[in-house]
Amino acid sequence: MSITPTTPPETADPRLLGRRVKRISFSEAEIARRVAELGRDVTGFYGDGELLVLGLLKGSFIFLSDLVRQIRRPLQVDFLVAASYGDSTVSSGSVRLLYDPETELEGKHILLVEDIVDTGRTLNRLMDLLQARKPRSLEICALLHKHLTSELRYPTRFVGFDAPNEFLVGYGLDHAENFRHLPYIASLQ
Ligand code: PRP
Repeated sequence: MSITPTTPPETADPRLLGRRVKRISFSEAEIARRVAELGRDVTGFYGDGELLVLGLLKGSFIFLSDLVRQIRRPLQVDFLVAASYGDSTVSSGSVRLLYDPETELEGKHILLVEDIVDTGRTLNRLMDLLQARKPRSLEICALLHKHLTSELRYPTRFVGFDAPNEFLVGYGLDHAENFRHLPYIASLQ
């Protein structure tokens, strides 16, 4: 049974810069429940060895902070900041790290945390780059997956929700850097 409201009460939400919500895709309570499940899945997945949870900024910052508090094993946290080379509309570019994690990756279990998989291009490039650092394992945890494309060459081991093909904001996702702080995920009118 879904409890997602179809007529959102947040239409007059003062955080929305006067915009109106078309639909709340995932409520704060739904997200919290699913993140707790993901935390249990991640906890159960890893045996021995060091776990480094790597968040891709900026979109993953809220999801990562909630997720790591649901993982009941030792871990470390670091972040990546990536930028695409050249024309961002061209799919064949490579990725450049604006912030490269200071933590050693070799020999560790790396869990790359992403807010949303859209075309999969960002993850393809980052996974290639991280694989070259010789981690013990390398897995993806994405809160949202649009399942639009077959471009992603790596499996997404952990997925929170299948996402609608809409422009989503909130819980880390932005529109022109706004709305990242909404505690729910919504599409705007
Ligand atoms: C968004 C999102 C993912 C990526 C997904 O990042 O956070 O990282 O796009 O798209 P893809 O699957 O088509 O590559 P964005 O570049 O908007 O940066 P942000 O994380 O700072 O919002």
